[in-house]
Amino acid sequence: MSSPAKVSVLISGSGSNLQALINASTSTPPTLPDVTFTRVISDRASAYGLQRATAAGIPTSTLGILSYKKRFPDPSGTPAFQTAREAYDADLAALVLQDKPDLVVCAGFMRILTNAFLVPLEQAGVKIINLHPALHGDLVGAGCIDRAWKEFEEGKRTKTGVMVHYVIAAVDEGEPIRQKEVDMAGCQSLAELEERIHKVEHGLIVEGARQVAEGVAKKSD
Ligand code: GRF
Repeated sequence: MSSPAKVSVLISGSGSNLQALINASTSTPPTLPDVTFTRVISDRASAYGLQRATAAGIPTSTLGILSYKKRFPDPSGTPAFQTAREAYDADLAALVLQDKPDLVVCAGFMRILTNAFLVPLEQAGVKIINLHPALHGDLVGAGCIDRAWKEFEEGKRTKTGVMVHYVIAAVDEGEPIRQKEVDMAGCQSLAELEERIHKVEHGLIVEGARQVAEGVAKKSD
């Protein structure tokens, strides 16, 4: 009898994808079976997703970057705050590892994770996956939906997509776990495109988390 996979979720905002995971784990029958949510962590205290987690009885934590930027200022012309980011990521890794999760899902977590986070989790055997509103090798980084919409308006694009992928140091480059195209034909506005993408995201994040969680559960047999 395999023990449920322990899943922690990183968020930054509304948490509609977190809600999709929660709903999938409690639906009858569950479309995300054999998982237990260990913690929801946000880099923004104002994230509505924290309220969704509390409503579902999941412990929450907030860890903001501001105090790290104050402790490790970057006086250069184009501040990257690398030292602040690495100190933040090391503390974030420690916070995550306290719960000994099997899987970390980045569900609308708007920070780029450095090796100061990735290496300790890899050493602890924790899988890390991310949801990204574009196909692998297409648009990377933030603002992908806006960029896809702009290219569509310019007649340079007819489709975009969504992917769930493993997180590596190279942004949005990790091996894809699940991908789905989003046809843009007939799309009248950016808001409509966002709606189409979020709809696909809410299904794909469940599929991706289930696939990795099943792999984790099997391993613990
Ligand atoms: C999603 O579109 C995700 O792809 C992007 O941020 C959005 C988060 O939405 N990175 P929510 O907070 O899950 O509603």
